[in-house]
Amino acid sequence: MKLGIVGVTGMVGRVMIDVLEKKNFPLKKLYLSASEASIGKKIFFKKKIYKVISVHDLLLKKPDIVLFSAGSNVSKKWATKFAEIGSTVIDNSSAWRMDPNKKLIIPEINASLLKKEDKIIANPNCSTIQLVMVLFPLHVEYHINRVIISTYQSVTGTGKKAVDQLNQEKEKKISDKKIYPHPIYQNVLPHCDLFMENGYTIEEMKLIRETKKIINNKNISITATAVRVPVIGGHSESVNITFKKKPNINHIHKILLKIKGIVIQDIPKKNIYPMPLYAHGKDEVFVGRIRKDFSFLNSINIWIVADNLRKGAATNAIQIAEYLINKKLN
Ligand SMILES: NC(=O)c1ccc[n+]([C@@H]2O[C@H](COP(=O)([O-])OP(=O)(O)OC[C@H]3O[C@@H](n4cnc5c(N)ncnc54)[C@H](OP(=O)(O)O)[C@@H]3O)[C@@H](O)[C@H]2O)c1
Repeated sequence: MKLGIVGVTGMVGRVMIDVLEKKNFPLKKLYLSASEASIGKKIFFKKKIYKVISVHDLLLKKPDIVLFSAGSNVSKKWATKFAEIGSTVIDNSSAWRMDPNKKLIIPEINASLLKKEDKIIANPNCSTIQLVMVLFPLHVEYHINRVIISTYQSVTGTGKKAVDQLNQEKEKKISDKKIYPHPIYQNVLPHCDLFMENGYTIEEMKLIRETKKIINNKNISITATAVRVPVIGGHSESVNITFKKKPNINHIHKILLKIKGIVIQDIPKKNIYPMPLYAHGKDEVFVGRIRKDFSFLNSINIWIVADNLRKGAATNAIQIAEYLINKKLN
């Protein structure tokens, strides 16, 4: 297995290295790439030093699988070039997610859709992955009518420059790498990504559209408010779900307990519920505060937390790669 990573010096790329280190991934060769500014930089992996190469040089190495995590412009420019030489691209950016000819994959949910001819596979948005991990099994059982989501998203979701802004503001320095339009330290911004004509942000519309694509149901009504908070460890989501059938809270616990990759933390009397501080660095999706919404028929409230850099990005992409290898699809 010759594996390439594009964007290895970024927030997601670094975590990919970390996740690969901990897994018994069948690697014969590893090629690491980033922008021209990082060429020659050293990256440590399993006690060996790897030098960052250009994306062009990575293409010449003809990797079997390439994990892209360098933004959608880089993916749009390079992914098809890799696909043409027979590499399978697993792309973390939004470039291909809503392309009707590309599959949007969360391995626990829809990896069985993958075929050998899928040469560009899209990894969903971080906030979508943790949401759909929970929605999908509940939809199978109770059929979802409507979902209302409010997110509390980590600054790591905006990339390394956003973490720099938070850290600089915390040290009371004027931030010279301002990525948000307002201070993020000790603040909350009801604003993730750019605003669109319809008043929603791109992040909110990604959540809505990607969720419908993965669940494969256009009829579910979904609305979202995506909020940036000065948090490092992961994204949190408050989710209100209305089902066609009457839900039972104990049964919901049982359904979610059976899902690989979900951990229930739900003992309110002992103050046990998911929090990003403790989800940080973990691969699972944490779920708690599962309760009946007594204000509306067939509805529940639920709280979902995950490390956006792990299950929301690197872990999910590497799980897709593992699936391809195990099923001999690459
Ligand atoms: N952060 C998250 O939680 C998250 C979750 C899911 C998906 N994503 C997606 O993953 C991608 C990366 O996000 P990130 O948070 O890791 O961003 P980041 O921290 O800003 O890192 C960006 C990476 O892309 C590289 N890069 C930039 N321009 C490039 C070019 N022209 N050619 C090759 N490499 C280039 C950078 O290299 P240099 O260091 O050399 O500049 C760096 O390695 C984005 O598409 C993002 O939407 C992020």
